[in-house]
Amino acid sequence: MDKMAIKGGFTLNGSVATSGAKNSALPILFSTLLAEGEHQFSNVPRLKDIDSTAELLRSLGCEAYWKNSKENSGPNEFVVKVEKLKSLEAHYDLVRKMRASILCLGPMLAKYGEAVVSLPGGCAIGTRPIDLHLDAMKALGAEIELKDGYVIARVPQASKRLKGANVLFEKTTVGGTENLMMAATLAEGVTTIENAAKEPEIVDLARYLNSMGAKVTGYGTSVIRIEGVAKLAASKYEILPDRIEAGTLLIAGAITGGDVTVEKCNPHDLDALVTKLRESGFKIDLGANSMRVHPNTKFVAVDITTAPHPLFPTDLQAQFMALMSVAEGTSVISETVFENRFMHVTELMRLGADITPKTQVAVVRGKPMHQGKFLTGAPVMATDLRASASLVLAGLVAHGETVVNRIYHLDRGYEQLEVKLQKLGAQIQRAN
Ligand code: UD1
Repeated sequence: MDKMAIKGGFTLNGSVATSGAKNSALPILFSTLLAEGEHQFSNVPRLKDIDSTAELLRSLGCEAYWKNSKENSGPNEFVVKVEKLKSLEAHYDLVRKMRASILCLGPMLAKYGEAVVSLPGGCAIGTRPIDLHLDAMKALGAEIELKDGYVIARVPQASKRLKGANVLFEKTTVGGTENLMMAATLAEGVTTIENAAKEPEIVDLARYLNSMGAKVTGYGTSVIRIEGVAKLAASKYEILPDRIEAGTLLIAGAITGGDVTVEKCNPHDLDALVTKLRESGFKIDLGANSMRVHPNTKFVAVDITTAPHPLFPTDLQAQFMALMSVAEGTSVISETVFENRFMHVTELMRLGADITPKTQVAVVRGKPMHQGKFLTGAPVMATDLRASASLVLAGLVAHGETVVNRIYHLDRGYEQLEVKLQKLGAQIQRAN
């Protein structure tokens, strides 16, 4: 199993470009199930989760492959060729690898009037139920049965078409909004989603759906309107840059007191992070597609509360906590999106971070270098994707060597993170 060895204490400097957004690519790849033909994508990140999605699409009868087959090279172009599916069943073996697999439910139900999808089960960052996805499908007229660990869904009407409806999500859900948006594109009539998620990835999915001929409006706001159409056609699309990766790289610059420019990103998508970094004392320049953090070794603690977009993203909470663990003062970090997303806390504490975790709140007493305090390298264990990133960030400033084990979590969501950090001057090596 791969691990990452990091020698701390090297200041990062230079420019680095972000890859395509994982959380945008996944729903968009599943949306291909809505339309036969050849779907062509560029800026798709080469990640484990993309491989898992491709495997699932293939199991349903699609062809899914990189245009440039040589691994980790080429322009990251990905093709999905869809014909009439040979199976409408997403197996447990594939779904358990990646919770986002539930996103095949809406498209299959909308196009074929039936779908069988394994329940994704719990995961490291909380129970993460799919009740809101299922309620949304029911609102569109689907009958849902849970049997032997599977969701068995069907449209009872002879037409096999879902029916547009008004759906109010009682909790903002990114995946739920995506599943419903996809299902509604081929439904009869109009669907309105209230309290819809507003994440940039929702906007990206809506744009791809519209390029296939769907009629989606209001995306990026809390009310999305979808006018159902009879048919969609395969299209071509460039995946938006990964804001979470961009944010992680910016924090990498900040935590080491470096001068780092993150290129190929949409700074506006990271307003909440930039606001907090500035509050902490960092000078940040924003370009049209770039962000630069200036050196600062005396930044101060600030509080954050995670919440749906455009507020502070839960997917950057762990990385920001690593930064706060070496800030001057005490920071209160509140996690409101997931009920159990502090697994990185005990690992950061192994590096010497002074953190008191409570239920969904962590109090971080910073250990700034200029006060003669510091973190110390140690072997640590990655528990989930963003937790892994926070341990890598802490390792960049910890004295001595930090070894992050179980790095496969990191590979699920970051394209060659160590290569990008090395380019900036980090002493980080992947080892077996
Ligand atoms: C997506 C992102 C993930 C990010 C999260 C929140 C992808 C592939 N993943 O996950 O990286 O951390 O958004 O920004 O895009 N919930 C329910 N019932 C449901 C669905 C969700 O109770 O049916 C709850 C969840 O447990 C959680 C909250 O709603 O507490 C938000 O979850 P959701 O926005 O759905 O997250 P994901 O789409 O799973």
